[in-house]
Amino acid sequence: MKIHVINGPNLNLLGTREPQIYGRSSFEAYLPVLRAAFPDVDIDYYQSNVEGELINRLQEVGFGCDGIVLNAGAYTHTSLALADCIRALSAPVVEVHISNVYQREALRHHSLLAAACKGVIAGFGLDSYRLAIESLRAGSCSPARL
Ligand code: DQA
Repeated sequence: MKIHVINGPNLNLLGTREPQIYGRSSFEAYLPVLRAAFPDVDIDYYQSNVEGELINRLQEVGFGCDGIVLNAGAYTHTSLALADCIRALSAPVVEVHISNVYQREALRHHSLLAAACKGVIAGFGLDSYRLAIESLRAGSCSPARL
């Protein structure tokens, strides 16, 4: 199984960025932990701060993999272009957030992407990524797919 994890703006600063909200681990430090949790899954990682680059990457990988875990950061709340892109892909996309966006400012309560995604996982810290991969793995062998 091939899964792509794609992180958006400012997530390259995990570990030092608002650690009281996002924790003290960089994504690079967490990635081996995530990979170890799924020895049978090939997990690719990409991060960009640029909206168009995220769209290019989604288009590149979104027709030839089993799923995408997308934390689009603040673009979650603003980007119709990312929502359109997700709708165009054949791979299922799970939207993830490290923080519980519903406990935060009202403008973070709305996602333009959620309706285009298979589901949303928010609020479990970095474990949100593991839960997202778990859901994609379960989905790939659900009775509907067999
Ligand atoms: C975030 C939540 C967003 O509102 C914020 O803009 C981020 C990170 C999260 O993972 O909790 O950059 O997506």
